[in-house]
Amino acid sequence: MARPLISPSILSADFARLGEEVRAIDEAGCDWIHVDVMDGHYVPNITIGPDVVKALRPYSAKTFDVHLMVSPVDAWIEPFAQAGADMITVHPEAGAHVHRTVQAIRNAGCKAGISLNPGTPAKMLDYLLEEIDLVLVMSVNPGFGGQSFIASQLRKIAAIRSMIDKGGHDVLIEVDGGVTPETARLCVDAGADVLVAGSATFKGGPDHYARNIAALRGDG
Ligand code: DX5
Ligand code: ZN
Repeated sequence: MARPLISPSILSADFARLGEEVRAIDEAGCDWIHVDVMDGHYVPNITIGPDVVKALRPYSAKTFDVHLMVSPVDAWIEPFAQAGADMITVHPEAGAHVHRTVQAIRNAGCKAGISLNPGTPAKMLDYLLEEIDLVLVMSVNPGFGGQSFIASQLRKIAAIRSMIDKGGHDVLIEVDGGVTPETARLCVDAGADVLVAGSATFKGGPDHYARNIAALRGDG
C-alpha cells in the first residue's frame, strides 16, 4: 500500500509526562503530532488549551496538527497559532462562517483543515477544497479515544479522494478515530494520506512506539 503519514494523537499519551511522550513519539518516527483540543461543549470532554501546546512545542520540531473540537471556534485560532500550531483543523458546525474561519487560519500563518463528523456529508466540501490544505475524516464521533472505527466512512474517504483528484486540488486526506494497522490499510486503499492514531500508537508504552508506528504505516 502507499505509505501514509502517521500523526499520533497525544490524547492517549501519559498526561503526567506529556513533554517526554511527545519526544518519544518523535524519536519513534512519527510524521506529525496530533493535538486534540476539546471544550466540554462542542464535544463531551475537556482536554488541553494553547498554553499546553506552547509548553510542548520545544519537544518536537515536527508538524503540530491541532484538531479543534471547540465551539465557537474563531477566537481560538490566533492563540493556537501563537502557541506553535502548524496545521489547524476545525469542524464546520463549530462556527457560523466556516469559509471565514479557514481564511483566519491562513491569515494566522497556519495550514487549514476541515473536519467532517461521521454524519456530515462530503458535499460540505464543495466550495471549500480550493481554500484548504487538509480534510480530516472522523471515523468515530469526536470526544474520546479508544472508540471503534465506523466503516461507512471508507466510502466518504473514497468520495473525497475523487473530488480532490478531479479538481486537481492540493489537499491531504487525514483519517481520525479507531485507526489500527488493519483499518489503516482500508483507509489508505480508499485514498487517505495521513492517519491519526491514539490508542494504537501508545499501547504497550514507550518501548512499543516505534513498532506501533511502523505497523500503522504498513511497515510492521
Ligand atoms: C477523537 C479524537 C481522536 C482520538 C483518536 O475525538 O479526535 O484524535 O484521540 O483516538 P483513537 O486512535 O484511540 O481512536
Ligand atoms: Zn483528533
